Amino acid sequence: MTHTPLTQSLTRPASFTGATTDAFLDVRNLSVKFPTDDGLVSAVNGMDFALERGQTLGIVGESGSGKSVTSQALMGLLKGTSAQVTGQAMFQGKDLVSLPESAMRQLRGRNIGMIFQDPLSALHPFYTVGHQIAEAYLVHNKASKKQARAAAVDMLGRVGIPSPVQRFDEYPHHFSGGMRQRAMIAMALICEPELLIADEPTTALDVTVQAQILDLMSELQQETNSALILITHDLGVVAEVCDDVLVMYGGQCVESGPVDAIFYDTQHPYTLGLLNSMPTLNSSASQLNPIPGQPPSLLDLPKGCIFSARCQYAELAGDSVCAKQRPELTVEEGHGKRCHLSGPQLTTIRTSR
Ligand SMILES: Nc1ncnc2c1ncn2[C@@H]1O[C@H](COP(=O)(O)OP(=O)(O)O)[C@@H](O)[C@H]1O
Ligand SMILES: [Mg+2]
Repeated sequence: MTHTPLTQSLTRPASFTGATTDAFLDVRNLSVKFPTDDGLVSAVNGMDFALERGQTLGIVGESGSGKSVTSQALMGLLKGTSAQVTGQAMFQGKDLVSLPESAMRQLRGRNIGMIFQDPLSALHPFYTVGHQIAEAYLVHNKASKKQARAAAVDMLGRVGIPSPVQRFDEYPHHFSGGMRQRAMIAMALICEPELLIADEPTTALDVTVQAQILDLMSELQQETNSALILITHDLGVVAEVCDDVLVMYGGQCVESGPVDAIFYDTQHPYTLGLLNSMPTLNSSASQLNPIPGQPPSLLDLPKGCIFSARCQYAELAGDSVCAKQRPELTVEEGHGKRCHLSGPQLTTIRTSR
């Protein structure tokens, strides 16, 4: 496994030179392996990224590329499991990778909020929605029940739930999918966490509600100046709300950079493939071009570029280098790519698309 020199990493400040950094969240060489009966599954392989307050980082990639495992590692949700998490994730002077579970529990909810795809996994069916949001508030704030109730009602209103005083006493199953997602956002934001990790927060929702929820998240993020990691397989969502984008494939970052650079100056054939498979206003579902082939086996990652087996441009690099040698992440002006093809070769590919 090759490791990128940290000074080159994407969102990292240009001044970054050594072991310490002032980035708000600084993730370095993060890897996660799961021992299984079939062998060691390398789900996340040497991820490097940084994030500042007020910024939104989108993590995109096909299903199975390691997006959720990355977020679970950051949230400390893999502690106490058989997962092998290595590397570093510095947040407020603490390393989220090595922090004990008890300390992590203090950060979760208070400083780091999470939103998942399925709100029912976060909301308990036996308690009212309001009760659960008020409880989340009480865990991290010295407050009376009455104050917690008032804070929860206020938060329900802020996330756009109509008649929050009445809805406070309703159970999760009384809420529609979109309203439940809003309730989970309210629960995640009630303590105004500085870092919010949202894993496919709108995937289960229809398009109109999806747009409302994304707007809401952006609005609340701006209000509290929090940092947001938005995990999605939907590049349309990324285009809408992200400042920076990190494209994952086989547990690695294959391309990263400012959102405009990713869309208009694409540097990796996998990202090009993702963009090609995206529906546009002018194309119907039948015109989509999914990337042919399967992702690599995480039990036995190829020696060369992990995308080479599916890459239709691999022969352009010559000398079978793509199959033989794992490319390093090279970064120019904040735009990183892990690809053997040169800039001019990629420009040719992009324009001939
Ligand atoms: N507990 C686990 N044990 C073994 N493999 C796992 C475990 N959790 C996730 N994986 C594997 O890690 C890879 C990445 O999964 P995930 O992060 O969920 O992908 P996604 O990008 O779709 O969120 C997948 O191949 C998945 O099967
Ligand atoms: Mg996932």
